[in-house]
Amino acid sequence: MPATRIVLALAAAIALALLAKPAHAEPVGQSLPAPVPGTSAVVFHASAAARDEAPPSLCLKEPLRPDGPPPSGWKDTPVFSRPQGRAAAWLPTADGTDLYGTGEVAGDLRRNRTRTVAWNTDAYGWQRAELSLYQSHPWVLAVRRDGTAYGVIADTPERCLIDLNQGIRFEAAGPEFPVIVIEGPTPQHVVRALGALTGTANLPPRWALGYHQCRYSYTPDTRVLEIADGFRKRHIPCDVLWLDIDYMDGFRCFTVDKNAFPDLRALNGELQGQGFRTVTIIDPGIKLEDGYHVYDTGDALDAWVQNSAGAPYQGSVWPGNCVFPDFTMERVRQWWGGLYGQFLSLGVDGIWNDMNEPAVFNVDGHTMPTSNIHRADPELGGTGTQARFHNVYGMLMARATYEGCAVARPDTRPFVLTRAGHLGAQRWAATWTGDNTASWDHLDMSLSMVLNLGLSGQPLSGPDIGGFVGAGDGPMFARWMGVGALLPFARGHTGKGNIDKEPWSFGSKVEDTCRLALQRRYRLLPYLYTLAREAAETGLPIARPVFFADPADTTLRAVDDAFLLGDDLLVVANTKPGPRDPAAKLPPFPRGKWREVSLVPGDQADPDLPRLFLREGAALPLGPMIEWSDEKPLDEIELLVNPDAAGRAVGTLYEDAGDGPGYRDRAYRLTKFTFSGGKASATVADGDWPAGTWRVTPRVVGK
Ligand code: GLC
Repeated sequence: MPATRIVLALAAAIALALLAKPAHAEPVGQSLPAPVPGTSAVVFHASAAARDEAPPSLCLKEPLRPDGPPPSGWKDTPVFSRPQGRAAAWLPTADGTDLYGTGEVAGDLRRNRTRTVAWNTDAYGWQRAELSLYQSHPWVLAVRRDGTAYGVIADTPERCLIDLNQGIRFEAAGPEFPVIVIEGPTPQHVVRALGALTGTANLPPRWALGYHQCRYSYTPDTRVLEIADGFRKRHIPCDVLWLDIDYMDGFRCFTVDKNAFPDLRALNGELQGQGFRTVTIIDPGIKLEDGYHVYDTGDALDAWVQNSAGAPYQGSVWPGNCVFPDFTMERVRQWWGGLYGQFLSLGVDGIWNDMNEPAVFNVDGHTMPTSNIHRADPELGGTGTQARFHNVYGMLMARATYEGCAVARPDTRPFVLTRAGHLGAQRWAATWTGDNTASWDHLDMSLSMVLNLGLSGQPLSGPDIGGFVGAGDGPMFARWMGVGALLPFARGHTGKGNIDKEPWSFGSKVEDTCRLALQRRYRLLPYLYTLAREAAETGLPIARPVFFADPADTTLRAVDDAFLLGDDLLVVANTKPGPRDPAAKLPPFPRGKWREVSLVPGDQADPDLPRLFLREGAALPLGPMIEWSDEKPLDEIELLVNPDAAGRAVGTLYEDAGDGPGYRDRAYRLTKFTFSGGKASATVADGDWPAGTWRVTPRVVGK
């Protein structure tokens, strides 16, 4: 064959091949079993090859089990691309679609036209425009104009831009990633489906829903006792006192400074006698020092994250030069978990994992180089760089801590607070919004942050009440305590060298407001605990956006100075400076007659406290006024009722031992209250506990 004919034939063959195979491989979609009834879900990959090569998911509770092609008529299909070697996926949004989620983000509740970079960052003193905070949730909840909803997970742990300027766009640094789309008739369905896929929070011990008091740092032990006494003598409710890094010996984790805390076990015993629990901080940076037991045992195990040359990576944190456990290895998580046995025996009740982005001082980006090496177990995808494991480092640390506490004290429920997190971290830890600032803007943002965390799978969060950075003033502190006391996790905290920020630090007027705020919380504890149980069972958040009450009512979509606790209680906060204007307009309310309620005498008259409204048809069980969660058993219930037009109201109450694993074996009682014909009745709806013997007194709220 002459050479020209060979060339022509080859060219024709190539042209044919190109026609047969499009330049961009076709995306593949596969249907998933309905995560919860009423929803449907599809996982999409950029191509069959991308699907076959995808590393294991680091956010899902278990591997997906696709079971067929996408349902016919499926609309929300991502378009994949490879801009400059990165991986991207885009979904259009119809007009009138409102976007939420994206995890722990500063700004407003509604996320339309925002950009977030999912990259866990030590963001001390962060402000409204911050692109990356301490956690990463490549997840968007979309609520269409008609109230139906869908959610999108970009299943990548890599640094990921979430751009909501035109539709929903994810762009990640690493390889092509799967996109999971969930469809549901309501946003609640979609959020529950997210919980089914990424896991729900464990039921916390009841005391964790009490008020927590922290500062950097309460030291020495006598100061801690003074704080405890400060609460009890003023009758301000509080359950937990926190020890920040100064309790340690030279910031060495799992050690105690014997000068400041000569007998931590005795101190904790004394606190327990007054109804207090203790939570202590444990960071990931381990001081590189021969003879220090944590360093020695970890080193013997070859436990540390490595630099790109394969040597233990060293970085500076509180104790100076440190190494960092590689929590991607099971053997390291077990070693780490094992350290809690002896430590918890000092009478410590909960663990605070901080600085676990991981934070590193004096380096670009405040963290490790992305070229660092994690020798991950095969089920996490095997050895990979920090670029892949950075966003899950804190979550895996929290997991190791949670599992270690569960083994060390099987009769109690672990309580772990983590600063860094990723989609799914709620399985092991609660969280807080990091080093915020004592400003009105931060007070305002704390609501939408907690709401969006809840819409991203994390039901247990709250801000540093009063602000970590900066002093602030009494009026702002009072307002912040008023609303902070109604968020799922309620902890006051402040930074080193800062002014005192206990509830009594700003004079008697602010103290009175704080007392009322916390008394409200403690009367609500039975309800909050019922909601924590609902969150554990279903993935629904505890604090919910107002639009949950009526997803089709578009006037509610941007409301973020008010929120719902569960379905029944509407909290209208006032986060703007200056005294409350009695004529100020309320935000739009969901339909129905929401009636204003008082929980403790005097609360409605205090303009610094949020106003509370009960849903029509709701019966809300209030507990007695107590100063700590276990002060006395729940034997008196006041049922706050807002009867509907037929004179009826219903509510539920979950009860169990308040701690320990017995509830997993049905040692609980779920009671349904019905108010009708002017009387309240109770029936056990679930659980093996016998019917309650509490005295129930209904209180019908004002007309
Ligand atoms: C970090 C934490 C803060 C803590 C401090 C000292 O800044 O975010 O809450 O008080 O470290 O441990």
